[in-house]
Amino acid sequence: MQTILTDSIEEAASILNAGGIVAFPTETVYGLGAGIGHPEAISRLFLAKGRPADNPLIVHIFRTEQLEEVAAAINLQAQRLIKSFFPGPLTLVLPKNPAVPYSVTAGLETVGVRCPANPVAREFLRLCGCAVAAPSANRSGLPSATNWEAVMQDLDGKIDCLLRGKPSTIGLESTIVDCSGATPMLLRAGAVTLEQLQAVVPEITANALMEQEEQPKCPGLKYPHYAPKASIVLCRADEKIAAGSDSSAFIGMSLPPQGVTLFKVCRTLEEYGRELFGFFRLCDARGIQVIYCELPSSEGLGRAIRDRLMRAAGVS
Ligand code: TXA
Ligand code: MG
Repeated sequence: MQTILTDSIEEAASILNAGGIVAFPTETVYGLGAGIGHPEAISRLFLAKGRPADNPLIVHIFRTEQLEEVAAAINLQAQRLIKSFFPGPLTLVLPKNPAVPYSVTAGLETVGVRCPANPVAREFLRLCGCAVAAPSANRSGLPSATNWEAVMQDLDGKIDCLLRGKPSTIGLESTIVDCSGATPMLLRAGAVTLEQLQAVVPEITANALMEQEEQPKCPGLKYPHYAPKASIVLCRADEKIAAGSDSSAFIGMSLPPQGVTLFKVCRTLEEYGRELFGFFRLCDARGIQVIYCELPSSEGLGRAIRDRLMRAAGVS
């Protein structure tokens, strides 16, 4: 299959409306979309990513009014979060509308819904005839794609179209909050921080994310994620590391250890989040074997960065 690389939002939307699978930019990471009314496209999407069928997809909408097409009920807490954070890097898990097929929700009675803020994403979603199911546009298990080149690297020849846009400004996948039960729960940390969420809905808890449950609330969390080929070694800001080999790298906010061949020192947590997955991919392209990653504290955006680093290292 030839993947059409285009800058035209209209062309990309018409390919999706004809039953195609189309990658598109969002402010978090690039997504790989299929219309929720196109069951064949949805199964091709799982195949293209190599994604297990029991891992549900997030449904994307272009404006809040479209929520009715996707969700069956929106409780007061969800309404407050929508008012504060939609459009943006937040996904809400809500009771699903019967119009959303079980192939999208992996058999669950709930659906993850997100309204991205990126204007290209919103225009694309507006031109799509229905809501769009979209996981991150990377091969399953690899770091998410934060620019169009990374999408091509993983999915060229496996998808119908890539709508080329700018690099993602956040670089980490959306925050996920489960609002389908009595107590809202943070399932995945992201750029909408726990502190920001709790300022709007104080009762939100964060435990599901960190605890190993037999039946994880967020099915995707049980699979390996974000992992480059290189091994990840987590380190603290004040740790003295002797990077022993000449094929090691460092990313963090402090000065790099001596002896690394490649490093990225980020001035802010925002920069750290934005650069992380691209740096992992760069390290793999350069044949780096060990990446030393500085763990930030779990305040603010640090929580999301820690989460991705720990998963990439296989320690959570
Ligand atoms: O920023 C993002 O969220 C990006 C962009 C493209 O929007 N998408 C993304 O999708 O990261 P994906 O498929 O890579 O991750 C979605 C996560 C998975 O861990 C999945 O298990 C969880 O969301 N999820 C989806 N629907 C769910 C549901 N109904 N209940 C619980 N978790 C759900
Ligand atoms: Mg993903």
